[in-house]
Amino acid sequence: MSEIKYFSENLDVQNKTIILRLDFNVPLNEKKIQDKSRIILNLPFLEDLIKKKAKIVIISHLGRPKGIKNNELSLTPIYKFLKEQLKTNVFFFMGDINEETKGKFAYLKEGEVILLENIRFFEGENKNDDSFAKKLASLGDIYINDAFSCSHRKQASIHKITKYIKESYAGPLLKKEVAAINAIIQNKKEPISCIIGGSKVSTKINVITNLIKNVNNIIIVGAMANNFFSFKGFKVGKSLLEKDSNKIIAKIYNDAKKHNCNIIIPTDCNVSTYFEGSGKTKNQDSIEENEMILDIGPKTIIKIESIIDQSNTVLWNGPAGYFENNNFSIGTLAIAKKISENTEKKSLISILGGGDTIAAINKNNDKFCFTHLSTAGGAFLEFLEGKDLPGLNVLK
Ligand code: 3PG
Repeated sequence: MSEIKYFSENLDVQNKTIILRLDFNVPLNEKKIQDKSRIILNLPFLEDLIKKKAKIVIISHLGRPKGIKNNELSLTPIYKFLKEQLKTNVFFFMGDINEETKGKFAYLKEGEVILLENIRFFEGENKNDDSFAKKLASLGDIYINDAFSCSHRKQASIHKITKYIKESYAGPLLKKEVAAINAIIQNKKEPISCIIGGSKVSTKINVITNLIKNVNNIIIVGAMANNFFSFKGFKVGKSLLEKDSNKIIAKIYNDAKKHNCNIIIPTDCNVSTYFEGSGKTKNQDSIEENEMILDIGPKTIIKIESIIDQSNTVLWNGPAGYFENNNFSIGTLAIAKKISENTEKKSLISILGGGDTIAAINKNNDKFCFTHLSTAGGAFLEFLEGKDLPGLNVLK
């Protein structure tokens, strides 16, 4: 199998325009960045390219605007942050991307940076449209994808762009992610436990069914667990539920039985009637109509901790609750603490992924220790699943 082409330190980029695909899909609240880790991780490479006197055109998406401009999802807050961080001129381009755009970038000097507005404001991005990809490619000389977390998306700035530009490479952060995940896949030791949060079972069904074949325990947390409660006939009140998930869950239980994998769901929860509430512990069979499940409860935390204690490898994606409110971040932080302690003291192999998981962990001041912390969510899971990611394939 051919190898991914990585950007080489020795490549002469002086006065060349680099189209750099990054992932600045960070959590925002009232246009304020809630967690900057994804941006901060990209700064060293940006500084390196600036030092080498490249001209840099950055592409990123934010949220899922589906081809429609939406002020709430503008990259303006990220632009302001980059401007503060980088010791060079940083510009923001909010115009259309067409045949004339490159000409408009003529003012860009060596070592300067332009950030394009949210690429998903353009219809052609999501559609992986050839003509849009061609226009994007025309903006530079070399394309670098340093957004591992987006590489599972078949979208123009990740996939088709490579068809229309002479040189395409993967960046150093992507290289680090791929190497770390590969090393863990090769060195993993049983028992292996996988903790999966998030809200939609349907988007993670393939991942879960594939993991079932390779891991000993799958622990379901977060809003996703609500669907499992409902499947078992428990009431979930006003909690987030995905329609028509029963068939999927039945398949998960069936496959798990076949492959001898334990599926563990919470037995108690922390609930409230509103998101800003303080929380009350309830067993899974006593949720009232006006209540929402917003975190796992203390009995579930103890159970998960004991499974982590019995594991030699832990994979984790997706927080256990509505961590944005500290009252509901208890489960997520307890899991993080246990995994961290065991990684440090018992040589547990631990790998965590997902923007939300990282944001939840970063809300805490404690220093955690993990074998690998991936910036990627969906891409990380699909890579673990053994899938060929479209964004990586085109770099081979
Ligand atoms: C992520 O946050 O996982 C990446 O930015 C990809 O975002 P997406 O799931 O909206 O494509």
